[in-house]
Amino acid sequence: MEPFYVTTPIYYVNSTPHIGHAYTTIAADILARNQRQRGAKAFFLTGVDEHAAKVARVAAEQGLSPQAYADQIAVVWRDLPERLNASNDFFIRTSDPEHKQFVQKFLQRLFDNGHIYQDVYSGLYCVGCEAFKTEADLVDGKCPEHDREPEWIEERNWFFRLASFEQELLQLYERDDFVLPGFRANEARSFIEGGLQDFSISRAGQTWGIPIPWDTDSVAYVWADALVNYVSALAYARPGQDLIPTFWPQVRHLLAKDILRFHCVYWPALLLGAGYEPPRQLFVHGYLLLDDRKISKSLGNVVDPLDLIDVYGVDPVRFWCARAVSFGQDGAASILGIHERYERELGNDLGNLLSRTTAMVARYRGGTLRASPSPDGSIANAIRPLASDVAASLDEFDLTGALERIWEVVRILNREVETTAPWQLAKDPLLADDLDRVLYDLVDGLRAVAVALAAYIPTTADAILAALRQPTGIEWANVAYGLTAETHAIEPATPLFPRLDAPVE
Ligand code: MSP
Repeated sequence: MEPFYVTTPIYYVNSTPHIGHAYTTIAADILARNQRQRGAKAFFLTGVDEHAAKVARVAAEQGLSPQAYADQIAVVWRDLPERLNASNDFFIRTSDPEHKQFVQKFLQRLFDNGHIYQDVYSGLYCVGCEAFKTEADLVDGKCPEHDREPEWIEERNWFFRLASFEQELLQLYERDDFVLPGFRANEARSFIEGGLQDFSISRAGQTWGIPIPWDTDSVAYVWADALVNYVSALAYARPGQDLIPTFWPQVRHLLAKDILRFHCVYWPALLLGAGYEPPRQLFVHGYLLLDDRKISKSLGNVVDPLDLIDVYGVDPVRFWCARAVSFGQDGAASILGIHERYERELGNDLGNLLSRTTAMVARYRGGTLRASPSPDGSIANAIRPLASDVAASLDEFDLTGALERIWEVVRILNREVETTAPWQLAKDPLLADDLDRVLYDLVDGLRAVAVALAAYIPTTADAILAALRQPTGIEWANVAYGLTAETHAIEPATPLFPRLDAPVE
């Protein structure tokens, strides 16, 4: 298998994490974990973006130097992937000295290759977006994303010749999976076709940032610094080892639609200009919406992901993120929604299935499961295509579809319990073989489902395998029917998802 490299945007540290950041991190983690299950060499990067003007402002408000402020808040951000049980291979901070040096080399390459020139820039700047705005971008004179008026900035800056990359960029879009979903690729393509403007990669009026190597009175524009993280991290994540040849350009960038232009237009052009391959793929997902507005700190409707984890546990939060909204689309999120899925899908569909199955093996067979597969049975047929179907959906970033595919099998297993009624079979000694076959299918089916779910809900998958007294291996080849050998000492499992009080709105 090809190496697989997945990234999240690096998050601004001007505030603390909310569920929207958790969302992308969880999605990237699901992809990375699944790739590892399938035997790929995977690298998963996340981290923080520190050199933004808005970070310097918050630091000043708190009477701290930007670096002291960033050092403090970076601790909270580093905790986010950990609390989400994300398996990131590295956590980058753009204030890492190695990153800074890499950015300087990167910008110098652009300069040496003739893609940089100096000019005076004046325009409206939205510090929320960290981007210049045109009048056409504004609604009632305000940035619609941040509901605030942009500021007038006029300064001598270094510019990147973005416009000269128009044709090369359009060529990239001839590959129809360069940017997914397709409607996002169209958005980026029409932006390019509409005519590209060179953009400034430096700031003269601020000191918080990476000095421009040939003009140390200026610092790098935050995006010209931040985007480079996707390559720089590979150069120093493993001391003494350069991972760039292994993982670049096999990268999948995940991001939400707010930063589409930077990633789908500016970033490939910057890479080409500096002599790197453009990224393999970009996936642009929608927003999690709360009351139809984007969840964000500035709009004051933050859902603290860590609070949700405290109440529901990490796996239910991960499950809900993948399931509540079709990945790629915008979707409405609510606390009642997570509670409902916790009870109905995790508690009843999956948790009860495990409780009932283990209880029946314990009760009717003293905890011993005989190896009695039915290779032509309905459970075998349901499980056989599962591995390839789920892998195919995940290869298209369809996290929601892949999970629904697994859930179909969970529902089939539940129906199997109802239609075969093992408690009736147990009453008649002549039906002992039938009972063995049914119990085998339930255990084996749950085992295969647990392996398939391992990327989504890793702790639960382990708990299911342990309750079924199955090996802990989650290699993808185990998502197959009939791999359960005779097993002993199965006991009634403790509930995977204990009942919780309903939230008060
Ligand atoms: N620092 C830049 C990114 C630089 S990457 C080289 C940035 N940071 S951010 O903190 O604003 O994070 C934006 C990203 O957070 C989005 O692209 C998305 O991945 C995630 N989300 C933030 N709010 C979100 C929602 N409400 N819903 C889904 N994802 C959201 O932009």
